[in-house]
Amino acid sequence: MPIIPTDKIWMNGELIDWNNANCHVLTHALHYGSGVFEGIRCYHTKKGPAVFRLDEHIQRLYNSAKIYFMTTDDKIGNDARSYTIDELCDAAKETIRINRESLIEGNKKLNNNNEEKVECYIRPIVYRGYGEMGLNPLNSCIDVSIAVWPWGAYLGGGDEGIRVKISSFERINSNVLPPNVKATGQYINSILASIEIKKIGYDEALLLDNRGFISEGPGENLFIIKDKKILTPPEHASILKGITRDSVMTIAKDMGYEVKETDIDRGMVYLADEAFFTGTAAEVTAIREVDNYTIGNGKIGPVTRKIRDRFFEIVKGGDSGYGEWLDFV
Ligand SMILES: Cc1ncc(COP(=O)(O)O)c(C=O)c1O
Repeated sequence: MPIIPTDKIWMNGELIDWNNANCHVLTHALHYGSGVFEGIRCYHTKKGPAVFRLDEHIQRLYNSAKIYFMTTDDKIGNDARSYTIDELCDAAKETIRINRESLIEGNKKLNNNNEEKVECYIRPIVYRGYGEMGLNPLNSCIDVSIAVWPWGAYLGGGDEGIRVKISSFERINSNVLPPNVKATGQYINSILASIEIKKIGYDEALLLDNRGFISEGPGENLFIIKDKKILTPPEHASILKGITRDSVMTIAKDMGYEVKETDIDRGMVYLADEAFFTGTAAEVTAIREVDNYTIGNGKIGPVTRKIRDRFFEIVKGGDSGYGEWLDFV
């Protein structure tokens, strides 16, 4: 997906011009994948732009950093460059505020209309910087940066749904790389699975865990619906515990559906009544086909549609019952 540039990027506490937000070619993370990151969305609401579950995302960033020894007490980073969760939440909102005009212009271009929206994707990243090489990163400096830019539907699909294929690449497991955190290097696993299925014409991959059960997509969690029950793989299926997954589970339960975290095998997916992916980038994306098996009637199913519509109503501030999920900019 092409990036639509905005004006400024927050780098180590300063707002830098977009084009000057660069790093050296010998940056540690570029060579070894030694960074951790988040993907967050800010939506246009009637009361102004609101970031969806910002605190939970930055808390997960802290957890990812902790796994890779990139935290000091309650702060993310090291030495002079370390920030509390609250400081990074404030920095994300400040970055949106400073980019207001360029975000509005970018959204007009993206949506091909004249609506004034400050919607964006937010990408905080914490990475081992320039100065040390080699596989002991503990003496390396840590840089922290937050960029924002307009980003539309990641997987597209709409009411048509997308075509998915199970990849021959297994999802990482916690004895290889901890799947419950977002480290940059871990995404090479997702990238191989994506390339494999895109080269043969599918829209998105689905990965199995090391036991052969369904895990998740390269950047999305999976849900299936069978006999009105909503099922999703549990944490021990090597998933990243998605914040959208958690939101959808809460929303679906509040709507009266039974939601269960349970091991899912391939046959269960092939015979599902409905299936969909969730993720910050993917939001709620209907699946119409897996491994050439048509799911349901081959379009978005009725339960998926209800959950998707409710999800968008909530993130866009249309339901005050979920107000604590919105952090106004
Ligand atoms: C591997 C993986 N699984 C699932 C998700 C969905 O997580 P979330 O809903 O928190 O964006 C993501 C995206 O962050 C991801 O990268």
